[in-house]
Amino acid sequence: MRTFKEIKTHYHFTAEDERRLRDLKPLMAENASQVMGDLHSWIMATPETARYFTDEKIRDRVTQMREVWFQDLFSGNYDNRYYERLIRVGQKHVKTGVEPHWLNRGINLVRSRCLEILNLHFDDGGERLAHLLSLEKLLDINLDVITSSFIEEEIRTYSPAYRVKSALLIFSERFSQAMNLVLVLALIGLTLGVVGLFVRDVIEIFRGHYAEGLITALGSLLILWVMIELMSTEISHLKGGKIGISVFIGVALVTTIRDVLIKTLKHENPETLYYLEALILILGVIFWLVRKTEDRKEP
Ligand code: HEM
Repeated sequence: MRTFKEIKTHYHFTAEDERRLRDLKPLMAENASQVMGDLHSWIMATPETARYFTDEKIRDRVTQMREVWFQDLFSGNYDNRYYERLIRVGQKHVKTGVEPHWLNRGINLVRSRCLEILNLHFDDGGERLAHLLSLEKLLDINLDVITSSFIEEEIRTYSPAYRVKSALLIFSERFSQAMNLVLVLALIGLTLGVVGLFVRDVIEIFRGHYAEGLITALGSLLILWVMIELMSTEISHLKGGKIGISVFIGVALVTTIRDVLIKTLKHENPETLYYLEALILILGVIFWLVRKTEDRKEP
C-alpha cells in the first residue's frame, strides 16, 4: 500500500491545490445538499444500487456520511487522518459488496455537478480552470484510494503471501497505536510531575529560600515548557504531521540549562560547570541550525 504522501506526489497535488480547494469551501457548502441530493436520487432511482438502501436507518446514516465526505473535499486539510477516512469508506463498500463500477459512476456524477457550479461561479476562465483542475485531482485521488480497497481485497483472496504481509501490517499499525497511547499517558504523567516540582519550588520561596526557590522554579518552568512542546509534537504526529527533531534538542538544551542553574546555586565544582556551559553553547547552535532548516522546509 502506498503512503498518502506518495499518492499526492504522483498526482502533483500541491499546497496551491489545497489552497484553491479551501477557497471553494463556502461555495460548495452552499451547494452540498444539492449535489449530494442528486447523488442520492440517482442511487435510489437505479435498481442495482437502490437495493442496498431498503433500510431507512442505513439510508439516512449513509446520506449524512456522504455529505460529510463532500464537505471534507473542501476542508483544505488532507493529512493521514483524511487518508484513513478514505480507506475506511473503501473497506465499507468492499464489505457490503458494492461494485467499484457504481463508485466510479457516483464520483462521475459529483464531478459533473461540481463542474456546473464552478462554471457558473467563475467569470475568469483561468481561475475556473485552475480550481477545476485542483478538484479533479482530489476526486481522482479519492477514487484511487477508495477503489484500491477492492484491488487489495482481490489480491488478499488469491495470494497467501499478501495475506501474511497484510496481517503483519495490521498488527504493526495496532502496536504502533498502542505505543502512541503509552507515550501520551507517559507524557501526561511526566508533565504532572514537573508541575509538582514547580509547586515544591514555589513553596521553598515562601519558606524564605528566595534565591534558591526562584532559580529552581525557573528551571522547572523551563522543563514544563519543553514538556508542552513534546506534547504538541506528539499531537501533531498523531494528526499525521511531521516530527521536528529540534524539539528533542530543545529537551537536552533545557535540561542542561536547569542543571547549570542548580549547580551554580549549590557552588559545586566549577570544572563541571565549564563543561556544561560549553555543552549549552553547542546545543544552542545545533538547535538554531535545525530550527532554521525546519522553518525553511515548512510550506
Ligand atoms: C461518490 C460516491 C460515493 C461516496 C463518496 C460514498 C460514501 C460513503 C460513505 C462515507 C459511507 C459510510 C462509510 C462508513 O460507514 O464508514 C458509505 C457507505 C455505503 N455506501 Fe457509499 N458512497 C458513494 C457511492 C455509493 C454508491 C454508488 C453505492 C451503491 C450502492 C454506495 C453504497 C454504499 C453502501 C451499501 C454503504 C454501507 C451501508 C451500510 O452501512 O450498511 N455508495 N458510502
